Amino acid sequence: MSDNLKRAAAERAAALVSDGMRLGLGTGSTAAYFVSAIGERVRGGLKVVGVPTSEATREQAQREGIPLTTLDETPELDLTVDGADELDDGLRLIKGGGGAHLREKIVAAASRRMIVIADSSKRVATLGRFPLPIEVVPFGLKATEIAIAKLLKGLGLSTDLRLRNGKDGTPFVTDSGNFILDAHLGRIEKPDVLAAGLNAIPGVVEHGLFLGLATGAILATGEGLVELGQ
Ligand code: A5P
Repeated sequence: MSDNLKRAAAERAAALVSDGMRLGLGTGSTAAYFVSAIGERVRGGLKVVGVPTSEATREQAQREGIPLTTLDETPELDLTVDGADELDDGLRLIKGGGGAHLREKIVAAASRRMIVIADSSKRVATLGRFPLPIEVVPFGLKATEIAIAKLLKGLGLSTDLRLRNGKDGTPFVTDSGNFILDAHLGRIEKPDVLAAGLNAIPGVVEHGLFLGLATGAILATGEGLVELGQ
């Protein structure tokens, strides 16, 4: 069921793509359906270029035959389509469940539009039930962890921070060679205040709060698609 919903949202987003577009290609299981749909259209003659937001998406896009570029060659994009771990009605997001939010955020920020595709289970009234991924440099991990914990406590948020581990129990390493701390917060009442606080901590590379980046969302429900923004 959920896979069909993800595919439905992704195919709707793929229908918004036209010749000449410079695309940001998101990461995750929903974005993968979008990349496949674009691949199919490229094989049918669509002319686009894509910037992948992760090594996994790069490999998929290459298999699909989608022409790729980089943000250095193409620093301004028309449209990024990506999944999310949570979104609220103000199109504020938590991303990074797959650990790709650093590149995802850079690509989204370089895009004129960012459309989120998801099944409607990702829609929440208040962000925070999904643990917030915080990418940190390995150097000084403990000191960075303490600084984040102090910030969270000061904001009245839980201080339950966990270093994300990979399947073999060693720390998960991002495409940029960093670690991820997951902050179990419950409810983020003031995402902008939290984002500013995290941005000010040395050692924090990027967090998964996407504020003011998404311009639209396509959410698949059992009864059809719901579109927010544009
Ligand atoms: C990757 O780091 C994430 O930001 C994904 O976009 C997010 O986890 C959504 O993934 P799914 O589409 O697999 O739920």
